[in-house]
Amino acid sequence: MPRSQIAKHPADFPVPPKMPDYERARADFTWEAVRRELTDEGCADLNMARIAVDRHADANAERPALRVTDRHFRVEDLSYGELRARTNGFADLLCRLGVQPGEVVATLLGRIPALYTAALGTLKNQGLYCPLFTAFGPEPLRQRLQLAGARVLVTTLPLYRRKIASLRKDLPHLKHVLLADADAGHDALPDCLPLEGLLAESDREFAIPPTAEETPALLHFTSGTTGQPKGAVQSHGAILAQYASSRLVLDLGTEDRFWCTADPGWVTGTVYGILGPLSTGSTLILDPEPFEVRRWYRILEAERVSVWYTAPTAIRMLMRAGSALAREYDLSALRLAASVGEPLNPEAVVWGEEALGRPFHDTWWQTETGAVMIANYPSQDIRPGSMGRPLPGVEAAIVHRRGAHAAAVPEPDTEGELALRSPWPSMFRAYLGETRRYAACFADGWYLTGDLARRDADGYFWFVGRGDDLIKTSGHLIGPFEVENVLMEHRGVAEAGVVGKPDPIAGQVVKAFVALRKGFDGDEGLRRELLGHARRRLGAAVAPKELEFRQSLPKTRSGKIMRRLLRAEEKGEPMGDLSSLDDSG
Ligand code: PRX
Repeated sequence: MPRSQIAKHPADFPVPPKMPDYERARADFTWEAVRRELTDEGCADLNMARIAVDRHADANAERPALRVTDRHFRVEDLSYGELRARTNGFADLLCRLGVQPGEVVATLLGRIPALYTAALGTLKNQGLYCPLFTAFGPEPLRQRLQLAGARVLVTTLPLYRRKIASLRKDLPHLKHVLLADADAGHDALPDCLPLEGLLAESDREFAIPPTAEETPALLHFTSGTTGQPKGAVQSHGAILAQYASSRLVLDLGTEDRFWCTADPGWVTGTVYGILGPLSTGSTLILDPEPFEVRRWYRILEAERVSVWYTAPTAIRMLMRAGSALAREYDLSALRLAASVGEPLNPEAVVWGEEALGRPFHDTWWQTETGAVMIANYPSQDIRPGSMGRPLPGVEAAIVHRRGAHAAAVPEPDTEGELALRSPWPSMFRAYLGETRRYAACFADGWYLTGDLARRDADGYFWFVGRGDDLIKTSGHLIGPFEVENVLMEHRGVAEAGVVGKPDPIAGQVVKAFVALRKGFDGDEGLRRELLGHARRRLGAAVAPKELEFRQSLPKTRSGKIMRRLLRAEEKGEPMGDLSSLDDSG
């Protein structure tokens, strides 16, 4: 076996693997066959929530859909039948509140049952479901709630008090705030409603309106290098790719206990934290608590997790705690471990094999793609360091752009931009309200991902880096522009440039460079003040961890700050002769 490959053993498959022959599966695959599998004969209804919940509740209402742990590892199950009733109740509640199909329902919640109720109930009512990250500060929340024009927000009392109450006057569209932790009949706050109390009065039956494949369903905000965050919209038909990838990439089925550790505020939390795995009928393990090494191993062991989807930052933290610790736990139920969101180093793949008895399978996708597009499949040999091969039904290529055109590069091992042949069912259908920005993502029938990669002669893709200034910190995508704007609010700041600084655990950390106005001293007091200001406005997950003062920042002739040079400097690369650079950087 070549060193660069981890081969699968027959013993890895207590049940037959879903894709024994990759090439054959690609050749035979059609989206039409997936559509037929998920819909009744002659009925084109593709409502995501019906496919994820009601289809399984109809077959076996008792099967656990959610298994919720608490701080003390006590568990409570919610069956598919109960989830059907609760999500029907939420859809009915939206109707009673006068919320129309197509209107945005946002959540600002951790992994608690109300999140699943709200997300799936919104989809039943044909609303647009928009999750928000609880570690965001007031500024990113205000921007996203405004851009979305959110009608309803579901959150908790502490989150409301800390982050939303002061924004309410800026959010005229936001008609209803539902609090997941307020008691029935108890008016927690005059301008909020108690979710559980209202659910108790709701109808447990709900007739889901027939839902076409192109009906908008999901709204996830993602960052750009300039301008406001972009709201990527997926339609109900995305469930076809979410289901197919949950089967082929995560190998999920009705017998599985699946744990996705992604935060519910980002796209992985919706697609593989809710929709994809439920559509396969598996049981989701939910842990509302933050990361802690021993806690995670204990959950894997006690809940007999069979399939685990996590991220490189967490894997690196587990590695740092040592493989001996992992071996103290009985992880024999774990048959598949997969990773997403950032580059997975080959050492991490191999460490998984040594410490957990399972190598990590890397998978690649984006908010815009709506589902995993490239993966190391459970039934195939892994190439450590590679993202894997395209999902059957998806065509990926390395392209070179020339002006408004993009051409696929047939030669293997050539670096270029990763592109996907448009369309596929979970492809984003819009950036909310931004037609031009959306159109700019496509050329000659390709969706251009903005990632740099190469493809080897066997068709495996290798991540090279991002082609833009976006920062990936602990798996979260941060736009430098949002951070720079908040720093610029301070009266002492003349210029700000924000970049990702390489970090052994988080992948990158957010680092700010600041040039001050005349009369301000770049001393420790001001450095702390600026970091504190950014933290209050943006939240801990987005604010810079480091800040350095400079006399001036490198700029193009037209005055644009060249983050690329600041980044190169962080990596210890020479800055070169700035005078020769023009706007092309
Ligand atoms: O740069 C790629 C990186 O994460 C970006 C997408 O981030 P986001 O839209 O927040 O989507 C999160 C859902 C995955 C990609 O453009 N990325 C994602 N997966 C990988 C990755 N980089 C390297 N290897 C991966 N497996």
